[in-house]
Amino acid sequence: MADLDDIKDGKDWGHDRPADTTRFFLKGAAHHDWGMKARLARIFRPDTGRTVMLAFDHGYFQGPTTGLERLDLTIAPLAPHADVLMCTRGGLRSSIPPESGKPVVLRCSAGNSILTELSNELVAVDIDDAIRLGAVAMAAQVYIGAEYEHKSIANVVKLIDSGTRYGIPTMAVTGVGKDMVRDARYFGLATRIAAEIGAQFVKSYYVDEGFEKITLGCPVPIVIAGGKKLPEAEALEIAYRAIDQGAAGVDMGRNVFQSSDPVAMLKALAAVVHDGRTGAEAYQLFRDEHRKAAA
Ligand code: R5P
Repeated sequence: MADLDDIKDGKDWGHDRPADTTRFFLKGAAHHDWGMKARLARIFRPDTGRTVMLAFDHGYFQGPTTGLERLDLTIAPLAPHADVLMCTRGGLRSSIPPESGKPVVLRCSAGNSILTELSNELVAVDIDDAIRLGAVAMAAQVYIGAEYEHKSIANVVKLIDSGTRYGIPTMAVTGVGKDMVRDARYFGLATRIAAEIGAQFVKSYYVDEGFEKITLGCPVPIVIAGGKKLPEAEALEIAYRAIDQGAAGVDMGRNVFQSSDPVAMLKALAAVVHDGRTGAEAYQLFRDEHRKAAA
């Protein structure tokens, strides 16, 4: 039987210390359940509210693109320098050591290639496997205005419903079809739709004109993709402007793994995202790190 001897009445009720009623550090996430918040807190650093994600899921429709020929050689060594990894389950299982301990945002859609219609995707990972892999979030594209818009929204809704059941957030990625105009109006529409259907955070692109309206009009955090490879100074300036205008981080791929120094690039991005450094300051840091590594 349970030991009932010497049970003492409680004494320290903290009369002068009211319970913490501040809800949660992340935009739009105050009313989620504990598990959902715990996973979001592994994606977005609670001290800054931001994240540096490394995206290397490109192979699921692009094949072995430059920098991703051997994930085990090029990407695995970068893991310690990113906050989060974003990848396919095949890339993860085959090439990233579980000991890396990094949170993983799992690409959960597939079904197209660079040779076919990009918007024609399906949900390509069962929730059981996302749980088995310990994913902190799942991701799929919404292709607003594209031929398969309806199907892509249905994919993301399916992930949101199954993820919500188990406390796993979904990141909706605003995919852009070949004929889409990449402007603030388009991304404002796409990111807002993604948030309204229930995505806990959204991945979008930075645009020069009106990016702040996109972040203001989206009630959940936005992280930006990097897009095609740019000179490092330009990519860091874009990251700076995005953060300055309300983005909650980056989920960059080519501008990291195709950089002349991917580790220095991740450190420079972290300086922008977490330390409030400008693009120019971060580029100086990139050069310093690169010089040190080459010495
Ligand atoms: C796009 O479908 C993928 O999610 C990529 O991971 C994403 O576009 C980010 O990569 P990048 O910075 O190379 O654009």
